[in-house]
Amino acid sequence: MRVGIDSLSLYTPGYYLDLALLAERRNTPLLKYVKGIGQERMAVPAPDEDVVTMGANAALQTLEGIDRTQIDTLIFATESGVDQSKAAGIYVHRLLGLPSRCRTFEVKQACCSSTAALQMALASVALKPSRKALIVASDVARYGFGSAGEPTQGAGAIAMVVSAHPRLVEIHPACGSYTEDVMDFWRPNYMNEAVVDGKYSIKMYLKALMESWHAYCEEGGMALGEFSRFCYHLPFTRMAEKAHRHLVRNTGTNLSAEQQAAQIDDTLIYNRLIGNCYTASLYVGLLSLLEGGERDLGNQHVGMFSYGSGCMGSFFGGTVQPGYRALLHARRHRDMLQAREALTFERYEAFYNHVAQRDGSDYQNPRNHTGAYRFAGVSDHKRLYETLNAPADQPVEAPADGDFVKV
Ligand code: HMG
Repeated sequence: MRVGIDSLSLYTPGYYLDLALLAERRNTPLLKYVKGIGQERMAVPAPDEDVVTMGANAALQTLEGIDRTQIDTLIFATESGVDQSKAAGIYVHRLLGLPSRCRTFEVKQACCSSTAALQMALASVALKPSRKALIVASDVARYGFGSAGEPTQGAGAIAMVVSAHPRLVEIHPACGSYTEDVMDFWRPNYMNEAVVDGKYSIKMYLKALMESWHAYCEEGGMALGEFSRFCYHLPFTRMAEKAHRHLVRNTGTNLSAEQQAAQIDDTLIYNRLIGNCYTASLYVGLLSLLEGGERDLGNQHVGMFSYGSGCMGSFFGGTVQPGYRALLHARRHRDMLQAREALTFERYEAFYNHVAQRDGSDYQNPRNHTGAYRFAGVSDHKRLYETLNAPADQPVEAPADGDFVKV
């Protein structure tokens, strides 16, 4: 039974900070950001965007042309959760009008939980091939203002439908994983920003890559030379370069620097303009590969490495399906990136400092550019989401308590 990714979409907020502006303000050579880290812009969410609105926007697109009554599972992966108890996916479930028989839950293990969600969904579909699962991975990467991590921020979501006979990428059964309890990056409940030991996190990423690769080989995975492209978790694009060089060198593979670059370059296009989106990043890279390259990748094998600090890694592979190009939303994704508004530094600072009240009082968020959904505010401890322009075939019901505001 072939199982895998049947559709894949991306959403990122309508605002970005140009890293040239950040470099100027932080008195840092721009080349450090552009070459040393490999980033040009970073997406910044407006106060009325969160992981729910970003995830719902990505999912709206990925469900186009797919019968929603067949979606029997929605898994929401995030490390920017909006509630300790209720899954963010439940809001998305309502905003998208998914069937009430669709089970919905949230998963967490830093950036890696989207891959755990994918593996869960694959197993579920393999058990009953008439099922389809929707995976939403949505995050806001946030580090201390003025910290070393600041240029590696970003925000965005991906949504994918997992099915039997997938039309985009078949995912192979072999998957090698590695877990170790380390403190390279984490976010305690009382903090809005991640705590990170940057250099150590890179070291752990590379260790988890090799350990996952060895586990993958023991699982009977493909030889390195059988993959034509590699997608890595992308906290910043230079990380993929470091990771690929590490993997190639440590497996004794003979590839020139140019050959190595050709295997990853197309995966980096979107991330360089968006920044880290934690759970979504690996799949933003996969989408960038599928949408960005000139060459038809039909029938080619892609190696993928997912890393989540703390830490866990997984290495697995997939085969791009012939005819995949017809299913992509490349033009729309490029238009979305081009239409974004560049923030002044002052507005970036205002967006950054707008952290929702935590004292439990009601508030309304100011209105900014968003996609089809926005986070309107909080009333009586309940988050309120608005649908701005739901297509006619997607009726959005009010939740049972009637607090839903339809604009
Ligand atoms: P830093 O200390 O600001 O930077 O931290 P640096 O001094 O290491 O410089 C970075 C690179 O720029 C170096 O290149 C410099 O040489 C170069 P490298 O040695 O690595 O090849 N450089 C220059 N290049 C050209 N012209 C110049 C120049 N100056 C310096 N003038 C760091 C960088 C990434 C550590 C920091 O931004 C950070 O802490 N980021 C957050 C943590 C992170 O992204 N870690 C990645 C691995 S962990 C992970 O991926 C998981 C994660 O996504 C979270 C999750 O799982 O949930 C983060």
